[in-house]
Amino acid sequence: MYSKIKEKKEWWKEAIVYQIYPRSFKDSNGDGIGDIKGIISKLDYLEKLGITVIWLNPIFSSPNDDMGYDVSDYKNIMPEMGTMEDFEELLKGLHARGIKLIVDLVLNHTSDEHEWFKQSRSSRNNVYRNYYHWWPAENGVPPKRFSLFHEEGAWTYDALTNSYYLHYFSRKQPDLNWDNATVRKEMYSMMRFWLDKGVNGFRLDAFTFISKDTNFPIISEKYESDFINYYASGPLLHNYIQEMNLEVFSKYDIMTVGEASGIAPEQALLFTAAERKELQTLYHFDHANWGRDKNNLYYPDATNRKLSDLKKVFTKWNDVFKTDGWGTTYFTTHDQSRMVSRFGNDTVYRKESSKLLFTFLLSMRGIPYIYQGDEIGMNNIRFDNIEDYRDIHTINYYKHLAATGQNTEAFINAQKEVSRENSRTPIQWNNSLNAGFTNGTPWLKINPNYNEINVALAEENPDSILHYVRKMIALRKATPTLVYGDYELLAEEDEKIFAFTRSFDNEKIVTVLNFSDEKNEFIFPFNINNVTELINNYNTTSTLSNNRLCLQPWQAVILKLN
Ligand code: NOJ
Repeated sequence: MYSKIKEKKEWWKEAIVYQIYPRSFKDSNGDGIGDIKGIISKLDYLEKLGITVIWLNPIFSSPNDDMGYDVSDYKNIMPEMGTMEDFEELLKGLHARGIKLIVDLVLNHTSDEHEWFKQSRSSRNNVYRNYYHWWPAENGVPPKRFSLFHEEGAWTYDALTNSYYLHYFSRKQPDLNWDNATVRKEMYSMMRFWLDKGVNGFRLDAFTFISKDTNFPIISEKYESDFINYYASGPLLHNYIQEMNLEVFSKYDIMTVGEASGIAPEQALLFTAAERKELQTLYHFDHANWGRDKNNLYYPDATNRKLSDLKKVFTKWNDVFKTDGWGTTYFTTHDQSRMVSRFGNDTVYRKESSKLLFTFLLSMRGIPYIYQGDEIGMNNIRFDNIEDYRDIHTINYYKHLAATGQNTEAFINAQKEVSRENSRTPIQWNNSLNAGFTNGTPWLKINPNYNEINVALAEENPDSILHYVRKMIALRKATPTLVYGDYELLAEEDEKIFAFTRSFDNEKIVTVLNFSDEKNEFIFPFNINNVTELINNYNTTSTLSNNRLCLQPWQAVILKLN
């Protein structure tokens, strides 16, 4: 087994990814918006953290209707973020520190301010007309399509050519027509442009949407909750990804990760198995809905938070990648609320539960993704006023509720827990004005708790989450078993303790995590006596006797069996 796995050794399988949401990372020029120079000023911080890859959210020209996911020029940098020279300097600075960079590829849509769309909408005969999906109004109203950002649906009427255009996301994000070979060529050339600059790979935004049934059959509204299966993953999806691989990915030594909305575990290897020549990895959303109302994801549901469900999700996805492909592990991104507020306890046990979640993330099989600010335990801001929100997702749904006389107060209460704005508040660097994020007015309010939660304080305190994360990263890097070892779940029904083993080449390591506010005891299902404690998020050594481990609230321990 060892030699087989060794053969499959790849730099990207060993990656420890840190996600930077640049708007909120660090502002260098006082306009209140984080920028590339700001990131450059924090390169030493990133190096010291020990992460090996950065995933950078979009920095391309954009009117920012959806914060950069509406690109108006793929080969330029948006002025708020800086210049192309800044980008090149950032790349150089990262590479000099041994850190790789993957950028966000927004594939399914552009901005309506992209030159292609401006041309496309100008007349039915324009050469760019077929770059997007148009429905002539003389054919009647197009079949209803659900939009993620507009309750009115995904078709918008454009009087100029008496036609409707399709946008699964906002009206300012028209869907590209990937069935048009010229569109695909343009996109591949854009990808090569960035790779030739030296970027080390891509995160593929919403890629399952690029192939769709363009006959636009009538689809019952009852499928809305499962819309991805009906609107996306079209018949040519694999052809397009294979073509992309052949034309672009295969020519470079890079890392690719797809945002796999709607992909079931059974389909995952079709995208990631080595011989398929598509992607290397993808990330799923099966635990993103944990604690949320399954019928309406805008609302939380505290009853839907069983630890055993979380175990099932991680275990099922691990099993998919046992022999081929490769997985990812994450708790949050810029699209969900804060990790510690969702999966931990962000009040009494903020520190312990953050450390526990990092212990999980960094000892699990699959590439770990750390979201900026989680390393200091930043938590949900819980805005209680719609005026504080900048996210189109929250704002549009609020407007819809208000316009239809529905309960906006309950919605705002729900957003305090689930809104993606919670993860987007600026990084709290220190306790000076605006948490050291900007000298100007921050684009999004800063969490007032920055006096107690900030990087400077975390640096000073050897017991901080930040110091623990560094230790945990170093442990993963020094322990091939934590990267390549097999994963096996223990005590699957236990609703308090998440425990699993990682085994590789005669080494066996156990991670035991107490996901609760109470003390708990874990009984090992096998004999365990001679152990070495590799890490522990409490300062006292864990006590093990008669195969039993007593754990403090949110205690996390990793033991090596000797
Ligand atoms: C997924 C991105 O992560 C999200 O932020 C964005 O709104 C949509 N795709 C649309 O591009």
